[in-house]
Amino acid sequence: MKNLIDIMELSTEEIDGLIKTALDIIENPDKYAESCKRKKLATLFFEPSTRTRLSFEAAMYELGGNVIGFSEANSSSASKGESVADTVKVVGCYADIIAMRHPKEGAPLVATRTAGVPVINAGDGGHNHPTQTLADLLTIYREKGGFNNLTIGLCGDLKFGRTVHSLISAMSRYEGIKFVLISPDELKVPRYIITDVLEKKNIPYEEVSSLEKAMPDLDILYMTRVQKERFFNEADYLRLKDSYILTPEKLSNAKKDLSILHPLPRVNEISVAIDSDPRACYFKQVLNGKYMRMALILKLLEVNV
Ligand code: NCD
Repeated sequence: MKNLIDIMELSTEEIDGLIKTALDIIENPDKYAESCKRKKLATLFFEPSTRTRLSFEAAMYELGGNVIGFSEANSSSASKGESVADTVKVVGCYADIIAMRHPKEGAPLVATRTAGVPVINAGDGGHNHPTQTLADLLTIYREKGGFNNLTIGLCGDLKFGRTVHSLISAMSRYEGIKFVLISPDELKVPRYIITDVLEKKNIPYEEVSSLEKAMPDLDILYMTRVQKERFFNEADYLRLKDSYILTPEKLSNAKKDLSILHPLPRVNEISVAIDSDPRACYFKQVLNGKYMRMALILKLLEVNV
C-alpha cells in the first residue's frame, strides 16, 4: 500500500505519470466519471482549509466516489483527547483512502502506521504540502512545457510556508534549476532545506530581500502568504505581514513570459490588479490541483482506467 506524505516519495517518472493522467482527465472527463464508484475518501482536516479540502472532495466526486470527513478538529473526537493514531484506525474501517491536514508536523506520517488504507498528507504544520506541489508542478508543466532550465523565485514566508519546502524539493531533481529565495531575514528557508536539498545537490541559489532586484531573472515567481497561524507573537506577524506586495509597477522589468504562482489564500501579497495579467497563473493552479488530486487518488487506489 502506498501513501503520499512527502513529495520525494514519488519518483520523477511517477510525477510524469500523474501529469499524463491529469492531462487525460482534462481531455476525457467522462472516461473517469465512474472510476471510483463505491469508494470512499475521508477528509480529516484538523486545521482550516478551503481549497485543499474542497479540491479533494470535488476530485473524488468527479471520479464517481463518495466523501466523508470533518473540517475542524473541534468537530472530531480529537476534542475529547483521542490520538491521531486511534482516529485514523477508526476511519480506516469506513474509508478506502484518507486525506489528512494537521497543525503538527509529522501527524500524517503517524497516521500511516495505523490507518490500514492509503494516507495523503494534505499539509502538516510548517513542514510539507505534497499535493499543493502536484498542483504547482502541473501548472509549471502546462505553462513552461517542462521542468528544466528555470529560474524560480520564491517570495514571502519561506520559513513557515510548507508549500515552498515541498516545491523546492520537487524542483531540485530537474536540470538547470536556479532558486532565488526572496524573504525578510526572519522568514528565510529553514537551514535543513539549504543543507539537505540545495547544497547537497549543488543547486545554485541566492537568498535576497529585494523582489524588484530579483524580478528580471525570473521565469517563475511563487508568491506566498505570511503564515499568521505559525507565529509566536502577533507583533512579529504585524511587522512582517506586508513585506512583499506584488503590484503591476513591480512587474515592469519582469520577463514577458513570467509565470506568477501562489498556493492561495492570498491576503495582501498580490494586488488584484495583477489578476487580469496573462502571467497570473494562481487561479489556473487551483483547477490543476483538482486534476492532480484525481490522478493521485487513482494511483493510490490502484484503479486502472
Ligand atoms: C497553503 C497551505 O495550506 O499551506 N494553502 C493551500 O493549501 N493552498 C498555503 C497557505 O495557507 O498560505
